[in-house]
Amino acid sequence: MGGPEEAIRTRLERAGQAHLLRFWAELEPTQRASLRDTLAQLDAEELSEHCKRAAEACAREQGGRGQAGRLQGNLEPIPAEVLGSVCRSDGATRARWEEEGLRQISQDKVAVLLLAGGQGTRLGVPYPKGMYDVGLPSHKTLYQIQAERIRRVEQLATERFGTQCVIPWYIMTSEFTLGPTEKFFQEHNYFHLKKSNVIMFEQRMLPAVTFDGKAILEEKGKLAMAPDGNGGLYRALVDNKILEDMDRRGIQFIHVYCVDNILVKMADPIFIGFCVSKGADCGAKVVEKAYPTEPVGVVCRVDGVCQVVEYSEITLETAQMRNPDGRLTFSAGNICNHFFTRGFLQEIAEKFEPQLKQHVAIKKVSFVDEEGNLVKPLKPNGIKLEKFVFDVFQFSKNFVAFEVLREDEFSPLKNADTADKDTPTTARQALLSQHYRWALRAGAIFVDANGQRIPEKHSLSGNEGSPVVCEISPLVSYFGEGLEMYLKAKNLQSPFVLDEAVMKSMAQHE
Ligand code: UTP
Repeated sequence: MGGPEEAIRTRLERAGQAHLLRFWAELEPTQRASLRDTLAQLDAEELSEHCKRAAEACAREQGGRGQAGRLQGNLEPIPAEVLGSVCRSDGATRARWEEEGLRQISQDKVAVLLLAGGQGTRLGVPYPKGMYDVGLPSHKTLYQIQAERIRRVEQLATERFGTQCVIPWYIMTSEFTLGPTEKFFQEHNYFHLKKSNVIMFEQRMLPAVTFDGKAILEEKGKLAMAPDGNGGLYRALVDNKILEDMDRRGIQFIHVYCVDNILVKMADPIFIGFCVSKGADCGAKVVEKAYPTEPVGVVCRVDGVCQVVEYSEITLETAQMRNPDGRLTFSAGNICNHFFTRGFLQEIAEKFEPQLKQHVAIKKVSFVDEEGNLVKPLKPNGIKLEKFVFDVFQFSKNFVAFEVLREDEFSPLKNADTADKDTPTTARQALLSQHYRWALRAGAIFVDANGQRIPEKHSLSGNEGSPVVCEISPLVSYFGEGLEMYLKAKNLQSPFVLDEAVMKSMAQHE
């Protein structure tokens, strides 16, 4: 090694990370070039600092286990005046919010931003989660469903206000997901959205670190790197000049959401309208916690400041507290569905991002041992540091929360079908149940092969599937609207799919 390589070695030695060059002599020229590139991008001081921080945070966290409840006493539920609710408000109020949201959309002031940089390790497929097909009759992927919802809500705003409009779709990806996501969108002609309105950008990666503070080699010439968490959004916005792009387009309000929620209502006019009419700079959709020990973060106030508190941070006693009406006191479950003004994002990106907490995730990270053999560890051996998108609530000057119905808005795809929750099956059933309810509400009658009416089930509990298969394309209906003209008093046989083609042929037969 000589020249520039020598300089890298000196820097790594100073950072206590010289082991990263252990196999240098054995590497092919291309492997050397790639390792050199990675190392050149990592500032030695920052790398050393990162490794130290990861090991310390991990030790701290492990030492602190069992101290659940350390937040008790300072905890309060979010006050009623900043909490809206889709089910506990009247029809006229909801209609007002919807009108306001559609008005903002019609004026090209609303964008959606998808967090799609995760590795989806629990689901375990070798491609981005958005490309997953949960097995609907149409075999639409999560990306396609989302694209079609954008098209439909644009259309609703256009119909209401008579102006053509666009909801730009920003997609945060990572080294793992950018290439395949771009290719997938190209192959599907951007699902008929204009390519220039689909803006993909990449978040940063950070080295995975051992418990004693050493960066990990996953191959002889390659560091184990992981995306910096969905809170990496704020640095990625700056790195990729996304806020400037939003500014140029006149975007004022941004709906940020996760890729894996099959029921996500992108640019939901009711949510946007609620947040705008409250003058909020930051907002979160929440669902009522299903039971006290459900492992979801809860939106609440700690010492007067809004934030998400993880289930592990509160005592069982606190989790079980109930109001006089019987509802859980800390019931506002966070579903990673956020409203931000552009100004708020700008402030976070420019001012507060360095203050965001780095969370520790302890994972199994494959590595090469001292002899150069690849080891797939059976126990977690590595630390990944991640920032979380919701950790910015504390900086909001006017935070609001908006409670929505879980069965209408939240069914995440996290695990493979071998798990008992948040699987392809539960996601598919959640969507089909919702569409069945919409069809019933529109007056449809489901019959079996003999023409016998299938008894209706208006409320379906938990993971119970609907008695029939009914799928309605997002291009036909965004939140159950406009279905009467196709479905009222119609006898339908399962499986029934209402898409644009069926809609046209039904309209012709009228
Ligand atoms: P999860 O925390 O569920 O992680 O992400 P994941 O990567 O999808 O799945 P596991 O934990 O490896 O099984 C919640 C959302 O945040 C995004 C994900 O793409 C998902 O939409 N995310 C996560 C990012 O955009 N970047 C990250 O670094 C991590």
